Order: sequence, then structure tokens, then C-alpha cells
Amino acid sequence: MTPKRYLVTSALPYANGPIHIGHIAGAYLPADIYVRYLKANQKDVAFICGSDEHGAAITLRAKKEGKSPREIVDFYHALMGKAFADFGIEFDEYYRTSSADHIEMSQSVFSKLKEQGVFETHTTEQYFDEEAQQFLADRYITGTCPKCSSEKAYGDQCEKCGSALSPTELIHPVSTLSGKAPVLRETTHWYLPMQNHSDWIREFIEKGILNGEVHHDPNQWKSHVVGQCLSWVDGGLQARAMTRDLDWGVPVPGEDGKVLYVWLDAPIGYITNTKVWAEKQGKNWEDYWKNDDTQLVHFIGKDNIVFHCIIFPIILKAHGDFILPKNVPANEFMNLEGDKISTSRNWAVWLHEYLEDFPNRQDEMRYVLASIMPEQKDSEFTWTDFKDRVNNELADIVGNFVNRVFVLTHKYFDGAVQSAATSEFDHIRQEALESFQTIGQKIELYRFREAQSAAIQLARIGNKLLTETEPWKIYKTDPEKTGEILNICTQLIAAMAIAFEPFLPFTAQKLKAGLNWNGKSWNELSSMEIIPVGHILGEMPILFVKITDEEVTRQQEKLRAAQLSNKVAEPVKEDVSFETFQNMDLRIVHVLEAEKVPKTKKLLKLKIQLGSEERTVISGIAESYEPQDLIGKNVLYLANLAPREIKGVVSSGMILMAENNKGELSLLSPERPTESGNCVR
Ligand code: 2FM
Ligand code: ZN
Repeated sequence: MTPKRYLVTSALPYANGPIHIGHIAGAYLPADIYVRYLKANQKDVAFICGSDEHGAAITLRAKKEGKSPREIVDFYHALMGKAFADFGIEFDEYYRTSSADHIEMSQSVFSKLKEQGVFETHTTEQYFDEEAQQFLADRYITGTCPKCSSEKAYGDQCEKCGSALSPTELIHPVSTLSGKAPVLRETTHWYLPMQNHSDWIREFIEKGILNGEVHHDPNQWKSHVVGQCLSWVDGGLQARAMTRDLDWGVPVPGEDGKVLYVWLDAPIGYITNTKVWAEKQGKNWEDYWKNDDTQLVHFIGKDNIVFHCIIFPIILKAHGDFILPKNVPANEFMNLEGDKISTSRNWAVWLHEYLEDFPNRQDEMRYVLASIMPEQKDSEFTWTDFKDRVNNELADIVGNFVNRVFVLTHKYFDGAVQSAATSEFDHIRQEALESFQTIGQKIELYRFREAQSAAIQLARIGNKLLTETEPWKIYKTDPEKTGEILNICTQLIAAMAIAFEPFLPFTAQKLKAGLNWNGKSWNELSSMEIIPVGHILGEMPILFVKITDEEVTRQQEKLRAAQLSNKVAEPVKEDVSFETFQNMDLRIVHVLEAEKVPKTKKLLKLKIQLGSEERTVISGIAESYEPQDLIGKNVLYLANLAPREIKGVVSSGMILMAENNKGELSLLSPERPTESGNCVR
């Protein structure tokens, strides 16, 4: 079924810090390319985003900066909205979840779900910080992830392995408010019993079936998205609390001191913001959210997959009125100069700073980010690669081609487009049309890297034609043929002006202005006779100025300086007494055997020797070491950590490791000969 309209969303960024290029490559640029393409084809599209202004991400930032949550969200909402707009990410609506409209919308969704019996209430013991007098959920609590052993998992999610968690699943939980171990206290909350929805969710993800009918083609979903969802469903869905004991958020109707869980309210923000937009446009928002002939597509980063493919669809379906996403083309992560992008370590290229450092050079960054977009696997941005792509591709291929055609047409024909009546260059026309069609096909498959490369192909075709025919050499003897070659090149530039619009919108505008031509819509381009004979070309500015080595060095130095000023080391935890330290029994142990734990990516099962005793320990080390690399090593071990069951195996104690900024683990071995079981003091 051809959709009648499109509703395209990009993840609502938390209003707790600026936008960086990793965000852009993940959820915003691909969506903007997709939407610009749809609009160029006259589709009915709403492109919706906004700031995510609730949750612990905001309140913790406010606490750190000594400000109120309101001050924080006002500041970052304005900063992010401006950076997006300046970069040419053209949302139809960029609104906010702290608005009255949103509070009304999310409360009404919650109340309907409650009336329909979708939630269960449970009174359970939850972690509570006695010093801060506050329940600890989500980012208020950290600990070791039970799935991958990362020590920095939050109470609702482990950002390292993407698992959704509950605070009580964390191993060694610690309050982020006081740094202390929390106590348990009773509280009552509304829960979404997700286990009741496992069957249809599995069918939806695996087969694209909803309510017994074909909803979407599951083969068009990215395999890493389907894989992550199915492994979550396979692990067993559980009831998940949808409310919190906090004072910043959407108040639970009729309850004091409780708010909606941020991951319930944030995606409802897509609905609120659509309504706000539609009302301004005199449109009916319900067409976009309640009509099966709307194609809903969520653009997100991989850390948001389970929320958009499982939790939010459960909410939408249980509510009953809303459509579900036709696709969630989540991207993986983009790293920066050999390290993970990190807001807390200030290892990032901030969008607003890029725009200040490189004014009017949005398309250069758009081009590079689309070229290395992490569509199927993680990718890497480096400033040297940025320079190479801008200089060797944009400037040398696109800029050079356009410049040569304009210079020659003005020089030989006073800017007038000549006739091209012969069929000698029909193969060029054919090749160009095929490239043009490829762009659309690839965009519709969410393959933006390949789509952009097909757009640049138009300039490559032109350059090749100029190099092969050398019109500057034949003008004196054959001016007619020179005119014909330049005509074809001009048509290629016109095709580029249309084809570049989704990727390089600023350049597309410059091309049209230079061509002295208003452009055509995408589907009007069916032949390569776009600009009429006799049309007079205008002046074309230099499209791309080359990036210098100095600019690269300045950016690299800026990154390192920002990271240093941000102190690389994690803050030291609170003091402990000597007795507390002495209570930890640290030993050197000898690794006897090592094997992978089935169905896990990160875990190894080790058999170790401690004196004459043999023990089994599960260690989250499998991404840094192969099992055979460990056998025979003497390593540092915490011997008296209480045994616990992990993946059906009782694990005793813990192997200790150092972790670098990239999250790579390193075993700690003694420098001098030691025996297994020797003490570490
Ligand atoms: O990960 C994030 O930045 C979240 N603020 C994304 C929310 S997406 C949506 F559900 F609102
Ligand atoms: Zn994890």
C-alpha cells in the first residue's frame, strides 16, 4: 500500500547538553535527508522532533550546575533548536515535553491506559537514599550491569550493552546523589506488564504481522534492530514501572509526588508535537497518528531501540487508537578520533561550535557525516578524514566540475546554453538518469551513504566527460561540439541541483541560483533536457573552499584541550576506613580454564586456582580477551565477594581489571613471580 502521508520522527534529545556530531549522524541527518527527499517528491510529511525535558538526565545536570531544572531545559532547548536550524535540519516542529500541551497529552494517554486496565500496581521495595531522602530510579542509581558487567549501568538502562534494567537488577548499586549504598523502602507504582505482550511483539518484529495482518516487510528492517529486539524478547519481557517518585516530570493524575517515567512521557512527545504542528497548519493531527495509511518512521540511535520497538509500540497498541512504526532505521554509534564520543568526558565535536568555527560550511559536515553514517556498524569521524573528503570529493570533484562548466560557457558562449541535438552523448544522459534513480531507491531503503554517493556520481560523470572530450581544445575547430558538451554538463549540474537537495541543501540552493533557474521537483526529472537551449547562466560562486592542515590541527588540539580541562580521571569515590579496605580479600589467582558463556557476547567462565582450591568465576571480559589468551595467567582477584548466580552458574569472587576510555579491559598481573593464592595488600 502506498502511504498517503508520512510521519517522520527523530529521537527527542535530552535538554541537558548540546548536540554533537554523533547525535547528528545517528538520528537527525538521516531523517532530514529522508524528509527532504519525500518533500521534493511532494509527499505529505510531518517531520517531528523536540526536546526531552524530563527525567534524571535533566535533574542531575541541574544539580551539578547548581541551577533549577527549568533553567537547564530552557537553556538547552534554545541552544539545540538553533543549532539544528542553522545546520539545515528542518523539523516541521521542534517543541518541548515540559509544555502544558505535552503534560495534557501524556496525562490523557496515561489515564486512558489506566482506565483500560493496561497497568498493574505493585507495592515493592525500592532503593532509597536516606541522606538525600529520595527514591533512586534510572540515572539516580548506578551499579554493575548483570548482563555485561559494565560498572556504569544506570538503574533503567546499561548504555554499554543496551539492556533495559531495573535498579534491583544492578549488582553493587550506588546512589548517584550521595555516592552511598542505598537502603530498601516500600513504594507503590504503576507497572506495564510487558510479558503479556511478548507474543504479538515477537510476531510484529520477526514477521511484520500486527493483529493477524501484514504490517510491514521485516526484511526492510535493519538486522541489528531486529536482532536486539528479539534477544530482548527471548530474554523474557518483564513488568516495568511507568511512574516514579520524583518532583520533576509529568505529574501522575491524582497522585502527589509521583511523575510519569520519562520513557513513557518522551515518546508521547512525538504525538504532542505533531498535534501542536498540525493545529498551526490547520491540519488534523489525528490523520497522522490514527490512520493506517500513514507511514510512521522513527529515526534513533541504537541505545533507544528497545524503547521504540518494544515499549512504545506496546503503549500505542494497548491504547488502541494509534498506529505503530513501519520502520525504525536505528543507526549504530559514531566514534571520534579513536575514542567513544562522550558528553561527560567532553570528547565531542559540538554542533554549535562547528557552526561557529566553520561558518556557512554546513554542507561540508553534512556530506562527511552522511558518507560515514553508522548505518550497519559503528563508524569513526576524524578531522583528517573530514579534510580529505571535503577537499578530494566536494572541492575537487563537485566544485571543480561546476566551475569548469561555468567558466567555459561564459568564455565561449557568453553564458548561453547551446544546442545538443546529436545522439553522440546519449550514453552519458542514460548513465546520469540511472544514477539519479538510484538515489531515490537507496533513500527509500534508508541507505543514505549509497544514496549520497549516487548523487556525487553525477559530478563524476561530468568530470569524466570533460576529461575525455577536452572542449577547451576543440573549441577553435568545432565550436558546435563544444557547445553540445557544455550543454550536457549544464544538464548534469541541474540534475545535481535537484539531487543534492536532501544531502547538501545549501549547495543545491547555490547551484540553482548560479544556474539562474528555479529548479524542478524530483519526479519531473525524466530526461536530461532540463535547462532549455538559449538559457543564460548566472554567476556561480566557489562552492567549496578547501580545508587547511591548520584547521585540522586546530580542531584536534581543541578536542584534546577540552578533554584535559574536563579532567580525564573519574572522580574519586568517598573515603573508606582502613578496616573496610582490609575486609576486601584480594589475591593473585592462576587461570586454569576459560570458555565463552553461551548466548552472551561479554561473558567468560573461568576456572581459577586459589592455593589448592579451584573456583569458578564469571567475568565480563569476552570482548577484550579470547579464552585461550587467559589460560596460564596470574591475575588479580577479589576472593571474598559473595557468590552469585550469573546465567545459571554460581560465580565466586571477581576478577579485577583496569578499563580505559574506550571501555577496553586489561587484566592486572603481578610484575614478579607469585604463587596462586598469594595476598595483595
Ligand atoms: O536518549 C535520549 O536522548 C532520549 N532523550 C531519547 C528520547 S526519544 C523519544 F522517545 F522521545
Ligand atoms: Zn550491560
